[in-house]
Amino acid sequence: MIETRAIRPALGVEVTGVEDLNDERVIAQCLEALKWRGFLLIRGLNLDDEAQLAFSRRLGEVRTPAPGQEIFVVSLDPAKSRSAEYLKGTFEWHIDDTTHDVPAKATMLTCRHTAMVGGGTEFASTYAAYDNLPERDRKRYEGLRVVHSFAATQRLANPNPTEEQLAMYSTMPTHESSLVWTRQDGRKSLVIGISADHIVGMRPDESRELLDELLAWTTQEQFCYAHQWEVGDVVIWDNTGMLHRALPYDPKSERTMHRTTIAGDEAWS
Ligand code: OGA
Ligand code: MN
Repeated sequence: MIETRAIRPALGVEVTGVEDLNDERVIAQCLEALKWRGFLLIRGLNLDDEAQLAFSRRLGEVRTPAPGQEIFVVSLDPAKSRSAEYLKGTFEWHIDDTTHDVPAKATMLTCRHTAMVGGGTEFASTYAAYDNLPERDRKRYEGLRVVHSFAATQRLANPNPTEEQLAMYSTMPTHESSLVWTRQDGRKSLVIGISADHIVGMRPDESRELLDELLAWTTQEQFCYAHQWEVGDVVIWDNTGMLHRALPYDPKSERTMHRTTIAGDEAWS
């Protein structure tokens, strides 16, 4: 008998009693939870790659850079992950794919090894943050457009890029979207985080101030949850509406997550 329990009033649900990941009702509940609660946690599942992939496929279309590479290893150890360098950017609040046209719908992480200290993953609901904005702020943000860039994602981790790095950043795509995203189903969320470079048509200092203010609002305790991993945990989150970040851990630690990405079907507006 599967049961669900809210993790925080504004976001998150823990699903217990899961016996069969092929059960239609389990899949339906997971999809429903993802839509309304932002992320879901199932402890102790201990999925291997094959089972993770099968479960992911029940939730949607699994995105992959190439056939056979559906599972991405999240680790700061260059021997385990080809993107270890890039993953350092995950310590700042972000939404994945803000420079794509269509963001991933959901991300699944399974925990294979934990860090000895730290290494949690924290989530902040931009739906809840938007819903709780005072009316005057909603008015202020209405109609604003924001440009996201790879360069912006690097600005805190690497505040003084070399010429070479700058040249590399400029080859990466940027993407403009509305700051407040109204989805086809009418729900609203905020498209912010480390990749938010500037607000279109606003003075750089004003723009930075507004984006920082909005990020600070969204990452208040009441809209957040930090998950402390245990081996075997599965967490799935709605990438389009949850800001997320890895909490600090020793890069030499064993911390390893296996990740699958569920393709999205709605473009940023
Ligand atoms: C990601 C990510 C955070 C973490 O996989 O997109 O941001 O805690 N991971 O590893
Ligand atoms: Mn991420």
